[in-house]
Amino acid sequence: MQMSGINKTLHKWLSLLIGLQLLIWLGTGLYFNLMDSSKASGNGQRVSVVHQRPDVVQDLLPVSAISSAAPMRVGLLWLFERPYYQFIYEQGEHSYQPKREQLFDAYTGEPFSLNRMQALNIARRSYSGDGEFSAAELLEPPFDDYVQQQNPMWRVIVKDEFNTSIYLDGVTGQVLKHVTDDVRLKELMLKLHFMDYGNSGGFNHWLIISVAIATLMLASTGVIWLVQQYRSGLLSINVGSRPRTIAVNLQHGERIQVQVSANDTLLDGLACAQLYLPSICGGGGTCGKCRFNTSQQLSITSADRERISAQDLRAGYRLGCQHLASEVQDIEAVFTPRAPRRR
Ligand code: FES
Repeated sequence: MQMSGINKTLHKWLSLLIGLQLLIWLGTGLYFNLMDSSKASGNGQRVSVVHQRPDVVQDLLPVSAISSAAPMRVGLLWLFERPYYQFIYEQGEHSYQPKREQLFDAYTGEPFSLNRMQALNIARRSYSGDGEFSAAELLEPPFDDYVQQQNPMWRVIVKDEFNTSIYLDGVTGQVLKHVTDDVRLKELMLKLHFMDYGNSGGFNHWLIISVAIATLMLASTGVIWLVQQYRSGLLSINVGSRPRTIAVNLQHGERIQVQVSANDTLLDGLACAQLYLPSICGGGGTCGKCRFNTSQQLSITSADRERISAQDLRAGYRLGCQHLASEVQDIEAVFTPRAPRRR
């Protein structure tokens, strides 16, 4: 296959690929415009959980008294009316990125881990509906309905009409998210919109970069194709189209006169007169089906050269989609009974 043929084939496959993705962008973009954002937030049944401080607070141990590796940061939080130091040893730029941390009782200095009952208690307090709660489970990532999160989380499933799942931080018990069916649908749309099939949680990934490069190639191959069409004399503006009469010799020996627009390709001009040259590529110059024969000395286009043997070219065969009706006076061709498919 010559370069022009490779260019056209590439252009067509890229059009299909980019066209499909454009449809996905269109559909998901429409969803984001029409969606009910309050439902899609998953916060319809969510209430904030406040851990009260007791009226009387004992003296806290100094942080230096905690027996632990050196943390990068230390915080103080209250859980069930008791203070805990939060030692963070490693943390990414975003809270969902992998993190290493430990809680220590700020009165005794003992390491503290949340248990199932406490996790369930916090989940219940964050929910205002009347669903039925399952036991809390401490799970490792990845999470199907919370794809960004890369840290262990407590999950509590609630049997309600929204299929709610409540996610808590695996260490601190902080309520991170209520996931409902509306949230899951939004996450799916986000995944499709950002082509995030690897669940990276963002859009700066190799697939979207590849599509950007493919789009650039689509535009480049389109421009190259246009230049090729222009050089072949196939680019014309149909203003005040001039009629032209062509003598057409049909397969069974009949000879008819057909009036066509001189600016159309022979394929299109004959089609307007209900004479359909065979075609699979719809005039793209790649299928080689729209052959006709003429005794005239017509120029040979690159597509003619790619699709027709040298012997047939010498015998006067050319492609109907690669020559203007204005170039020919007398042709011989085999037609199909119906209009060819346009692709
Ligand atoms: S080469 Fe396919 S229609 Fe002409």
